[in-house]
Amino acid sequence: MIEYNDDKRIFTIHTKNSTYQMQADGFGYLLHLYYGRRTLGVTDWALSYVERGFSVNPYDAGNDRTYSLDVLPQEFPSQGTGDFRSTMLNVHDESGTYGCELRYVGYEILTGKYSLSGLPAVYANDNDEAGTLIITLSNERLGLTAKLLYGVLPEKDIITRSAIITNDGKNPFTLTKLLTSCIDFTHGDFDLITFHGRHAMERNFERTHLTHGLFTIGSRRGMSSHQYNPFMILCEHNATETSGNCWGMQFVYSGGFRAEAELEQYGQTRLMMGLAEEKFSYTLKPGESITAPEVIMTFSSQGLEKLTHNFHDCLRKNICRGKFRDIQRPIVLNSWEALYFDFCGEKIIDMAKCAKSLGVDMFVLDDGWFVGRNDDNHALGDWTEDTEKLGGTLGELVGKINAMGLSFGLWVEPEMISENSRLYREHPEWAMSIPGENPVRGRGQLVLDLSRHDVREYVYRSIAKILDGANVEYLKWDYNRSINEVYSHSSQCQGKIIYDYMLGLYEVLERINTNYPDVLIEGCAGGGGRFDAGMLYYTPQIWTSDNTDALDRMSIHYGTSFGYPVSAMAAHVSVCPNHQTGRITPLNTRYVVSMSGAFGYELDPVKLTDDEKNEIRRQIQSYKNDREIITDGLYYRLSHEDFFAWEHVSRDGS
Ligand code: GLA
Repeated sequence: MIEYNDDKRIFTIHTKNSTYQMQADGFGYLLHLYYGRRTLGVTDWALSYVERGFSVNPYDAGNDRTYSLDVLPQEFPSQGTGDFRSTMLNVHDESGTYGCELRYVGYEILTGKYSLSGLPAVYANDNDEAGTLIITLSNERLGLTAKLLYGVLPEKDIITRSAIITNDGKNPFTLTKLLTSCIDFTHGDFDLITFHGRHAMERNFERTHLTHGLFTIGSRRGMSSHQYNPFMILCEHNATETSGNCWGMQFVYSGGFRAEAELEQYGQTRLMMGLAEEKFSYTLKPGESITAPEVIMTFSSQGLEKLTHNFHDCLRKNICRGKFRDIQRPIVLNSWEALYFDFCGEKIIDMAKCAKSLGVDMFVLDDGWFVGRNDDNHALGDWTEDTEKLGGTLGELVGKINAMGLSFGLWVEPEMISENSRLYREHPEWAMSIPGENPVRGRGQLVLDLSRHDVREYVYRSIAKILDGANVEYLKWDYNRSINEVYSHSSQCQGKIIYDYMLGLYEVLERINTNYPDVLIEGCAGGGGRFDAGMLYYTPQIWTSDNTDALDRMSIHYGTSFGYPVSAMAAHVSVCPNHQTGRITPLNTRYVVSMSGAFGYELDPVKLTDDEKNEIRRQIQSYKNDREIITDGLYYRLSHEDFFAWEHVSRDGS
């Protein structure tokens, strides 16, 4: 699976259908040779040496003007080496001097898949399933060591990358750009496929023919975002669903990101993905490290469909974890579109009774259940149930619902704080805000500073108290604004906060997963604003979009399907006219669209006619009959032009 050719210092990673190759050359530069269809040969034909004007030459090359890092394909291009393309690593020292040339030091080949401390990453189910290659590079002047990590799941055609940058020197230095993955192509005519959107209309498919220049997408919002998903595909210009070469990169990270495709002067293409540069300025003191979040890569020579299957299989069984990875998820009735903030305990009981009679498994109480929360301007941070509104304690309400044979789920938004809350009055310094400036509000709320230990402790304890006090078996973990003020009142290095926030979030989620393994968490960020492989590591399903209109959902599901499995996409049937679009669609259409997902309803069942109730009973039965094929089978996109059509096929093809 991983081979090293000592003569030529060539590293080869084989998967079932692909090969990845690189070489530490005579000067110690780590050059990329090949990523494509499986080959047994040596691919150093990829390197060509020609004198090219204004492409500078490393000092070590002496009078050889044919050697230039400006045109050679590289594994981890860094700024200041004479490569004037966009680079992965930009570093400056204390004097502000930029530049960090990296030379090869050594390698290790390990069985099993590496893991990343504090960050989500692909895992292997047993050691035979995976291998790890670590290549070490260093820069002597700065004392910077870069450990490049490669993981391989050969049967799944998956290769992952990450990197750990350490200060092994005597003085601090600062990273202003850190990407994770790069593939340099020496030739090819490519299209780039990305997924853009906005709130309530996420992950729209867009295919662009690459022309000269730098094409970038990303998020500066401290979240992976509704606007661009951290996933992209580079494919041959004529590739289709079932033919042609294509390469995918998917970021296992839920914060800001940057993805780039650059077509340069000699028709070569560089494809890269990693952390956003915006508000990132990460100083490492001697002895300190930073880890570049993981990127999952796959290659398909059989078009987009095979590439999709590779990602689906990897995310389902090597990213999603816990018992809900393998068991069927509950069919829920969520209260949001039925009640918004306007409800009482009695109303909930009536809805739950009716839901039970239709065949629903779980009642999910959305926003509005805690003291002071009768609109979205108040009380975030104060996670105490409103006993008056609920007609008793949360534990009592859940007890009544459980007694009907229904399980219970609850909405929370733990990363946020309302200025109008007890928490803010006690701890204004826990909100991200810049001293001397008024913070920007988003949905009337501020973001809690999860880079702080005391804030993480408070958030964890608030959630633990809810889970200990009532039989809550599901949490909808929401996140309803972008981060603007990147400032922590407890830090000396503000350039670290945007990254440390995300480590903080992952720490809290990991603690909840570990201590409450029977609780299913559904991710959400105003719908699908944090629909990424990082969240899926902790929350095996995500609310796909706040838009529940069946027609709009077809294109949202279509775009989402390229990188993410159906089991990850929470989808609910809601009422008509639809609350977001006003459109009227048949109940059956709404069902057919939502059944391609982690299924549920988001309406008041008490208000349904008898005919509608009967239809819903049939829908739930039909979903239960087919759901294994839907959530674990193979997914095929059949059409998206004049009409949408997709197909679920059982693994054995029957
Ligand atoms: C976000 C979610 C919705 C709902 C509301 C509650 O917008 O995406 O589904 O939970 O918050 O305030």
